[in-house]
Amino acid sequence: MARVERAGLTDLFAPDEQTISFAGGLPDPAVFPKAALQAAFASRAQTDSAFQYANSDGYAPLRAQLAKLMQADGVSVNASDLLITQGAQQGIDLTARLLLNPGDGVVVEGPTYLGALAAFDAYEPTYYEVPVEPDGMDLHALQKILLTHSVKVIYTVPDFQNPTGAVMSLAKRQALIRLAHQYDVVILEDAPYRLLRYEGDALPTLHSLDPDGRVVLLGSFSKILSPGLRIGWLTAAPRLLQALTALKGGADVESSALVMQSISTYLASADFPQHLAKLRNYYRTKRDAMLTALASLPPAIHYTRPTGGFFVYLTGPSWLDFSALQQTELAEAHVALVPSKNLYPSHAITNGARLTFAAPALADIAPGIARLNRALTQVLHEVPAVNK
Ligand SMILES: Cc1ncc(COP(=O)(O)O)c(C=O)c1O
Repeated sequence: MARVERAGLTDLFAPDEQTISFAGGLPDPAVFPKAALQAAFASRAQTDSAFQYANSDGYAPLRAQLAKLMQADGVSVNASDLLITQGAQQGIDLTARLLLNPGDGVVVEGPTYLGALAAFDAYEPTYYEVPVEPDGMDLHALQKILLTHSVKVIYTVPDFQNPTGAVMSLAKRQALIRLAHQYDVVILEDAPYRLLRYEGDALPTLHSLDPDGRVVLLGSFSKILSPGLRIGWLTAAPRLLQALTALKGGADVESSALVMQSISTYLASADFPQHLAKLRNYYRTKRDAMLTALASLPPAIHYTRPTGGFFVYLTGPSWLDFSALQQTELAEAHVALVPSKNLYPSHAITNGARLTFAAPALADIAPGIARLNRALTQVLHEVPAVNK
């Protein structure tokens, strides 16, 4: 049986009542467009087709609407280039299922998205970690790995990376595509935060910079509509897409017709661009509140300043162990985060932590960070001189 012992994602979603949680990357329900979705579901629930089987690649009108959205974002795709998935998570799983056999090399960013590791683990790959810099993956480190090891897949979140918030620069995107070509590697580009940009201009996706069809691009409605819908999508070159569609059929036959059709109605009737603009304003305010609060942390704690997405990443002195703190000082302070140990396949790095500003109520951000600040100040103060 495959190795599946990684801490469950659901662990992130169950803080006690008193705790202010910066752990689970949940979107804020205050910005779920519930009324418009309810109306869309009610109208689709009148039809037979919403309750019927259809096909594995997903509801064609929804794929056409997605293709338009993606074209507006510079990705040149048609409806027939898309597969609807159960969230981006299924896109990761299907790609891993298609390409990874036990022992095969997969490059991940260090730190990376915990759920991707949970998906990859089932296929028992050999992991290679590449550090994330403020402008994305360290490509020198990547090249060293590619020179000396056989790698099948490079997994990256180039836009507002989970967990650091980093955006890969254009120069690195271009260089990454060249490296993938040179070493014949597939890139799995996971982009669920791409439309949640709070400042600056969008950079092209890796997919749109790729001349030879080696990028699988994942998208999702989870952060921009609601994760309970469990709808995402992927696009890939025909050869890969065909195989991924066949695997999707084997995994769950198809995504829910009722949900796909209802989203399609929602997109046709609601003002989706306006909804996105509202989300950006809403989460920008929370991001700003988080950054303002973090300014009071002890200077030994560094933090990233994301321009989009859901996450800020803390780095402390190398001896600091956020996993241990989570069980002790942070638990006593009733504040939760994701320790970095869980975000590296090697579990080797303990002095980092992921915080989300999306999930907590705006009014809880400053008090929650104040709790974190008190706990960290105490720990840094108490540390034996040998570690200073
Ligand atoms: C980088 C990344 N990929 C994929 C997912 C899974 O998203 P979905 O709900 O679309 O499956 C998440 C969710 O947090 C994520 O952060």
